[in-house]
Amino acid sequence: MIEDEVNKKYWSTVSPEKILSGVFLPGEEFTKFVKTKSSVLDVGCGPGKVSEYLRAQDYVVTGIDINKQAIVENKKRKSNITYLVADITKRLSFADSSFDAIVVPYVFVSIIDETVQQKAVVELVRVLKEGGILWLCEATHSRDYEERYEIGKEITGRDNVAISFVDVRPGKKEIKRFIRHYSSEELDRLFSSLTKLSSKQVGVISPNSGMEVQTIIAVYKKI
Ligand SMILES: C[S@@+](CC[C@H](N)C(=O)[O-])C[C@H]1O[C@@H](n2cnc3c(N)ncnc32)[C@H](O)[C@@H]1O
Repeated sequence: MIEDEVNKKYWSTVSPEKILSGVFLPGEEFTKFVKTKSSVLDVGCGPGKVSEYLRAQDYVVTGIDINKQAIVENKKRKSNITYLVADITKRLSFADSSFDAIVVPYVFVSIIDETVQQKAVVELVRVLKEGGILWLCEATHSRDYEERYEIGKEITGRDNVAISFVDVRPGKKEIKRFIRHYSSEELDRLFSSLTKLSSKQVGVISPNSGMEVQTIIAVYKKI
C-alpha cells in the first residue's frame, strides 16, 4: 500500500536527531508487571531514549528500528544494549518466545494498512514469552488534527489518517508521511490475542507540531 511505502521511506531516511523520542516512558504501569533483569524489546527505538531509560532501570534491552543510521549512532554509545535494524512488518530474526516484555511507543501510528498492522502484531506476539507484557502508546483522535484528518480522508479514503506535510504553505503541500490514529477499541481489537491489563489516556503537546496529541497508554499480557 502506497501510504505504508511512503512512511517506510520517510522513517528509513529521516535523520535520527529528527526522530522525536521518549515522549512517554514505560512507567509504573510497566515496571509493576516486569521485574528488573527481564529481557525487553524496544520496538521502533529511534535514537534510543526509551531503550536507554529501560537499561538504566536494569532491564536487558534490545532496540530495533528500520532507520539504519539511528542504529549505527545508538551502537556508538556502547551502553550494553543490543541494537538491530529490523522492520516489524516483516519476519523478525528472533526465535519464538524470546522476550519477557515488549514496548511499542508510537510505532503503529506509522502503519496504515490493517493487514500490515495485523502481520506486525502476530510477529510481536510470536517473540513475546507466555506471561509476557506488551506496553504500547499510540496517538488517539485529537481535535487539533481535524483539518489533517479531512485532507487524509481525501487522499486515503480512510478516517483516522492524518497527513504530515514537508511544507504547509498553500500550494507547497508535499506529503511527508501518513499518521494513523487509533481509538482504544481499535487497539484492543488489534491486540485481541492478548489480555488487556490497563489503559489510560494522556494529552501532550507535540514539540514537533505544537498541536495537542491525545495518547493512549495500554498494557497487555500474553496469557
Ligand atoms: C514516532 S518515532 C518513535 C520513537 C520511539 N519509539 C519513541 O517513542 O521514543 C517512530 C519510530 O518507529 C520506527 N519505525 C517506523 N516503522 C517501523 C517498522 N515497520 N519497523 C521498525 N521500526 C519502525 C521509526 O523509524 C521511528 O524511529
